[in-house]
Amino acid sequence: MTTSSLPRHLGIIMDGNGRWAQHRGQPRIEGHRAGAESVRDITRASRQLGLEALTLYAFSSQNWARPADEVAGLMQLLHDFLIDERSEILDNEIRLEALGDIERLPGLVREPLEELRAASKANSKMVLTLALSYGGRESIARAARSAAADVASGKLRVDDLDCERLGAYLPTASLPPLDLLIRTSGEQRVSNFMLWEVAYAELMFTDVMWPDFRREHLYKCLEQYAARERRFGLTSAQLADGSDV
Ligand code: FPP
Repeated sequence: MTTSSLPRHLGIIMDGNGRWAQHRGQPRIEGHRAGAESVRDITRASRQLGLEALTLYAFSSQNWARPADEVAGLMQLLHDFLIDERSEILDNEIRLEALGDIERLPGLVREPLEELRAASKANSKMVLTLALSYGGRESIARAARSAAADVASGKLRVDDLDCERLGAYLPTASLPPLDLLIRTSGEQRVSNFMLWEVAYAELMFTDVMWPDFRREHLYKCLEQYAARERRFGLTSAQLADGSDV
């Protein structure tokens, strides 16, 4: 088995924006605003380090139920990010992607998102994926529906529907396997993020709130990741023998 000490694909559950703001006596949206600065710094650092893929949980399917002014503020921040970072993303040959129920997003976000997705689609240095209106269960259900439709139309045999086939219907199929998942703010949950993809990912939880999470915290996580032994269901001895997985 060959595993680089650097993850190919890093996922982040960016948590703690609201509490960060409340601790400062500020409205929650100020936490999201500071969190958007962390997104910029972590994206730049990831690109400089040479990660192939960075996937950020920016808005969950469940986040629609938050107060309307918070949802509107988040949509504005996403819009601003897509406009302000456009040239940085293109100049650094980053491909922008999105996961989730994009149709549900307001035009304010959907339009610059689709535009930048198209403009960056030939870029190959790193893929930055924003999970927006996203839920891991919803994503698996959608994949199952597509597979069922292919069975119904005779394109796919039921007996052929194994993990590899079903995984190919997921929107993450074109990304490298998720190697590392970081969640900030001290919570130790996966919260419906990349439920399928997390199967063999290393999980890392840090108490740092997302608005405070900057590249020096990322470097520490990557050091810990490099020190972990990933066994993929094998034994340490098998790994030492060089058995392939
Ligand atoms: C979770 O913190 C964070 C979110 C629901 C939104 C994340 C959004 C951003 C970081 C800003 C915009 C994103 C981009 C890509 C520019 P929380 O509000 O649940 O925090 P809490 O648990 O302390 O209440």
